[in-house]
Order: sequence, then structure tokens, then C-alpha cells
Amino acid sequence: MAYRHRDGPLEVLRRVSFGVEAQEFVCLVGPSGCGKTTLLKVLAGLVHPYEGRVDFVGSHNGNPLTAMVFQDHGLFPWMTVMDNVTFGLDMRGMARVERERRALPLLERAGLARFVRSYPHELSIGMKQRAGLIRAFVTDPAVLLMDEPFASLDAQTKLILQDELLRILRDYPRPVVYVTHDIEEAILLGDRVLVMTARPGEVKAEFQVPFARPRALAVIQTPEFADLKGLIWRDLEAAVRYQSQQ
Ligand SMILES: Nc1ncnc2c1ncn2[C@@H]1O[C@H](COP(=O)(O)OP(=O)(O)OP(=O)(O)O)[C@@H](O)[C@H]1O
Ligand SMILES: [Mg+2]
Repeated sequence: MAYRHRDGPLEVLRRVSFGVEAQEFVCLVGPSGCGKTTLLKVLAGLVHPYEGRVDFVGSHNGNPLTAMVFQDHGLFPWMTVMDNVTFGLDMRGMARVERERRALPLLERAGLARFVRSYPHELSIGMKQRAGLIRAFVTDPAVLLMDEPFASLDAQTKLILQDELLRILRDYPRPVVYVTHDIEEAILLGDRVLVMTARPGEVKAEFQVPFARPRALAVIQTPEFADLKGLIWRDLEAAVRYQSQQ
């Protein structure tokens, strides 16, 4: 995958190849600028690689293949929470009653039921991020793509949203590709962690996370967690140093 730049093509991803199983949670870590967001955009069909392809296996009943959750919630400021959350369904021509019937249970469980007629500026950052999350789930995508969705949250809100995400996934299971800079978050959430090299990003190493689900926060205190964190950091550190010298 390469972008067109003034002084020639900028190669961003090279020989990246991985699969994601049904209901598997795959985390991607890698140095800033190595192509993580680009990779999600390729998976979403927003940019097209000049070589290679993305295959989705199985049926998806006319639902979208992917939905993306960004670091910046990406809500439209002029729309209410309900209209934001159901925007994708509206685009697909679904009637308002049906759209709201689908969104309400998700909004309720996220504690947003009282705020469906509020506008984004009337919400806290955590609430906006919850709305962004629900907007993705409500379209029932085959794969959920998440680009550092909780990176701008404070530590406590982040823990709460991570926990909520895992709970929602239990009830609305689907594969997730999740980009993060935070190794602890990758181990806490993921079934597998892929480490990318500096640009052009390749998948350099892959780690299976050994903790069962449902997963308690207490796993952070276990020696296995610390060991895995050390191993991932060893691979990531070299890539981060290399990228920062470029
Ligand atoms: N639309 C674009 N046009 C041209 N170049 C781009 C475009 N988007 C990204 N790039 C370049 O591609 C490279 C990878 O960018 P990308 O956003 O995928 O990195 P990233 O791994 O997500 O970084 P970060 O961790 O900082 O979010 C960067 O060098 C960036 O300048
Ligand atoms: Mg990015």
C-alpha cells in the first residue's frame, strides 16, 4: 500500500497478511506513522492497496462489512445523539421507528437513554465515545474496526469503557481489529496482539493472549501479564526507535 506524495509514492504497508477468526479480538500495536490507520482504512475499503486484497468469509445478510470507531468520536455536532447513532441505518433507508427500536437497547445499556435528544456538545467525552461505539454496533457490521478509540479518555473512564466494550461484544459478538498505542490495553482486550514495524509497516511479531474470558481487570497484576507486556515491548521498542530516527 502506498500513498501518492509530491516526491513519489510513499510506501506505507508491505506484505501485511493476517486473518481474523469469527469473534476474535485482534489488537495492532506499532510506532506512530507505521500505517495502522491506513491498514484499518484498507480493511474498511476506504483506500485501495495497489497489491493484495481483503476477503470476508461468510454471510453478512446485507449488513455493512465493517464499521469504524475513531479516537475522535466523529459525531455530527448538529445532530442529536439518536440521529447520530442511527445515521448509518438512515442511510440504508430504514424507517425511523425501526432505527430507534434497534438503537434504544444499546443506548440504554450505555447509560445514554436520557440523552437521546441531546447534542454532542451536551455530553461528556466518555459519553461521546460511548455514542460513537454504539453507532458502530447498531449497523451490525461483519467486522468492527477501532482506531485508538479510548486514547483521549482519562484512566478511569478508559477502564470503564474497555469493560463496556467487552460486555457489549459478549451480547453482540463479532471480530474486532483494534489499534492502540497502549500495550496493557492490547493485552487486556485482545485474544491476539500483532506488532508492526516502522513504515513501511509489516507484521513483525504475533502474541497469543493466554487469559480466558470473561476477563477480570485483576489479570493486570499477574506475572503472566507482566511477562507478555515485556515481550511485546521488546519487539515494539526497536520499531519505535527506528521510526523516530526517520
Ligand atoms: N491520505 C494520506 N495521503 C498521503 N499520505 C498519508 C495519508 N494518510 C497517511 N499518510 C502517511 O502514511 C503514513 C502512515 O500513516 P497512518 O496514519 O496510517 O499511521 P499510524 O500508524 O496510524 O500512525 P499514528 O499511530 O500516529 O496514528 C504516514 O507517513 C502518513 O504521513
Ligand atoms: Mg493512526
